[in-house]
Amino acid sequence: MSTVMEEVLRANTRPNIQTELPGAESRKIIEADHEFVNPSYTRPYPFVAKRAEGVWIEDPDGNVFLDCNAGVAVCSTGHCHPEVVAAIQAQAAEMIHLCGTDYYYQHMPALARKLDELVPVPSPTKTHFANSGTEAIETALKVAMHATGREKFIAFFNSFHGRTLGSLSLTSSRAAQRRGFKRQALDVVHVPYAYCLRCPFNLGKCADGSCCLGGIEWIEERLFQTTTPPDEVAAIVVEAVQGEGGYIPAPKEFLHALRAICDKHGIVLIVDEVQSGMGRTGKMFACDHYDLKPDIICLAKGIASGMPLGATVARADLMDWKPGAHASTFGGNPVAIAAALKTIELLERELVDNSKTVGEHLQNRLRELMARHDCIGDVRGLGMMIGVEFVESKRTMTPAPDLRDRIERGCYEKGLIILGCGKNSIRWSPPLILTREQADVAIEIFDGVISAAS
Ligand SMILES: Cc1ncc(COP(=O)(O)O)c(C=O)c1O
Repeated sequence: MSTVMEEVLRANTRPNIQTELPGAESRKIIEADHEFVNPSYTRPYPFVAKRAEGVWIEDPDGNVFLDCNAGVAVCSTGHCHPEVVAAIQAQAAEMIHLCGTDYYYQHMPALARKLDELVPVPSPTKTHFANSGTEAIETALKVAMHATGREKFIAFFNSFHGRTLGSLSLTSSRAAQRRGFKRQALDVVHVPYAYCLRCPFNLGKCADGSCCLGGIEWIEERLFQTTTPPDEVAAIVVEAVQGEGGYIPAPKEFLHALRAICDKHGIVLIVDEVQSGMGRTGKMFACDHYDLKPDIICLAKGIASGMPLGATVARADLMDWKPGAHASTFGGNPVAIAAALKTIELLERELVDNSKTVGEHLQNRLRELMARHDCIGDVRGLGMMIGVEFVESKRTMTPAPDLRDRIERGCYEKGLIILGCGKNSIRWSPPLILTREQADVAIEIFDGVISAAS
């Protein structure tokens, strides 16, 4: 271990950048990556990671960064939490794989039972295990089609549900994700999300903090009356907090209105909590903030501290299909499930609470910055899922994507790892172990970078 990483871990307060960025060793890796690896990965700045512990990541040149992104909202328990590492090691020594599609092992019912206890979907539930968020979504779509005998879907602009062809039909956060892939594989129609700051309906209620429900009216009065009869709609798919689209929590009345539409027309309500789930919002699920009961919930990212695992938890009467209808060779791998069970134990023990309390502190500190910097147009979020929107000025509220990009890169150069989302926002999605002191250091760096860039 390098001296710098040792020092940072001992003090546990500040990042430490010793070389130009990216350093010489990092540059070699970037060159090799450019030669051999899929060029469609987006990489907003040239950060190369070598090893990580807690909220700290060391690059190959010995620089140490403070991580406020957690591998895009995945490493909820912090990097290489010792109890998660021990659970993975013990399981790897006992059995790595057997294919749950064809054989039984105790891990699948253990985690499915735990999820039945935790999720906001009414019990009894059944769970399908997959390897990623997009697969969890694909499963939910298939369940909805199979259970209803219908094939249309309603999704929302700026949503992100994945990049395989079914989930890509729902995804609508950027044209680059769609370009070249021709028509949608599935029959999905998109509706504006309840993004009250920039509501396209703006029917006059946004200012009082409630939703004008323009999107709901659009579904009922336009779609259902014209292109999309409700009795042909299999499911409405929604993120309770829009993730890639800008870290935008939906207003409660919007989500409840969707629930009511689904109840009225026998439509399945699928809530995608791939990014917002597993303690990220200061409760186990974002739905818990809204008292929302979906028919199906999709989980991945934070569920297993970085091991690949997705889960689709559905009302048991909906996931009522015959052997062969849907399965996965690797999904629900015993090592990934061991990591998930340990992750959930840590979340319940202390990390959901920490996400709430330190998340509130982080939000308060970000609101202080908003009061001082004219270029911050909005700070919003729940727990440790916080979006900061950059604008040209508070008067115009014109989105400032270039400024956002400069701030994102400037933070990297000062040793703070954060990531953009939406057109002009930065997401804060730190490991849920982040302390107040570490949050204050991150804010101090962010503040300095904003002053220098704006
Ligand atoms: C809300 C949401 N759904 C689905 C996905 C897709 O997950 P994956 O990249 O694991 O396929 C993501 C990924 O960012 C997401 O944020």
